Amino acid sequence: MSYVVTERCVNCKYTNCVQVCPVQCFHEGPNSVAIDPDVCIDCGACEEECPVHAIYQEEDLPGEYEVSIKLNEELSHQWPEIAEAHAALPEADKWKDKDHKLEFLDKGDKKSA
Ligand code: SF4
Ligand code: F3S
Repeated sequence: MSYVVTERCVNCKYTNCVQVCPVQCFHEGPNSVAIDPDVCIDCGACEEECPVHAIYQEEDLPGEYEVSIKLNEELSHQWPEIAEAHAALPEADKWKDKDHKLEFLDKGDKKSA
């Protein structure tokens, strides 16, 4: 079991979550982050730090975000580690109340999502 970052992070990337993680399981992509499920110790510290409630424990994940389980596993293994918080993306406040942002997820390869 692991915690999972959902598409609610996309285009916000506040990064409050990464600085509370005791085992550095966050990885950073162009407009979102992902949790490495092999490293997460299920402590729950990150969940309440996210201002847009993008993080869920896998077993509490709403069905609409189920694809996030696979995406966190895949993308955390591709993206570099992030351990320190930094400024949110410039348009974060504009995107923070939007949901269903999967189509905007930038995986950092040739094509987005
Ligand atoms: Fe890190 Fe704990 Fe969040 Fe897992 S649940 S990503 S170990 S802060
Ligand atoms: Fe994303 Fe929330 Fe962390 S917006 S970077 S999951 S604090």
